[in-house]
Amino acid sequence: MEIYYYSFTGISKKLAELLGECLNLRPKEIKTSKKSYFFWLLLSFIPYLSFKAYFEKPSSSTLVLCFPKWTFNCPPITYFLKKISCENLFMIITFGGWGEKKYAKFYKKLASQRIKRVEVFLVKRKRVLNETSKVMEEILSWLNRIGI
Ligand SMILES: Cc1cc2nc3c(=O)[nH]c(=O)nc-3n(C[C@H](O)[C@H](O)[C@H](O)COP(=O)(O)O)c2cc1C
Repeated sequence: MEIYYYSFTGISKKLAELLGECLNLRPKEIKTSKKSYFFWLLLSFIPYLSFKAYFEKPSSSTLVLCFPKWTFNCPPITYFLKKISCENLFMIITFGGWGEKKYAKFYKKLASQRIKRVEVFLVKRKRVLNETSKVMEEILSWLNRIGI
C-alpha cells in the first residue's frame, strides 16, 4: 500500500503524514507548479480538467489518496487519476463545508472508470484541526472496515 497526497493549504498533507506515521509508510506528494488561489479557484470550476503534476509512479495495487475539495474539480488530482493504475483506491477528501457529497460522487465515478474498487472518506477541515486524534481514529477504523 502507498499513501499519496496533494495539498494546497496543508490539511490533506497533515492527514497523509499522520496516517503515514500510523501505518509506517512515507506519504508521497503529488506536486505541481506554484499557482495562486485565484488561479486554482478558476480552474476548479471546470470539471475533468487536468493540470500537470509530478509524482513517484505508484508500485502498489492499493493506494490511499488524500486531497482537498475544490468547487467541481481539483486539476492536479484529476491528472493523477488519469495517469495511474491500481486495483484499490481509498480517497480521503478534506473540505471546508459545502458540496462535498457531490464532489465525492464525481471523483468516485471518475476513478471507477479505471480502478476496480474505489472508496471515499470525507472529513471537514475544521475537524482535522480541532479533533485530530478522533479523526485519525475514524480514518483507521474506516480503513480497517474496508479491509486494510
Ligand atoms: C480553489 C479552492 C476551492 C475550494 N472549494 C471548496 C468547496 O467548493 N467546498 C468546500 O467545502 N471547500 C472548498 N475549499 C476549501 C478546501 O476544500 C479545504 O480548506 C481543504 O481542507 C483544504 O485542503 P488542503 O489544505 O489540503 O489544500 C476550496 C479551497 C480552494 C483552495
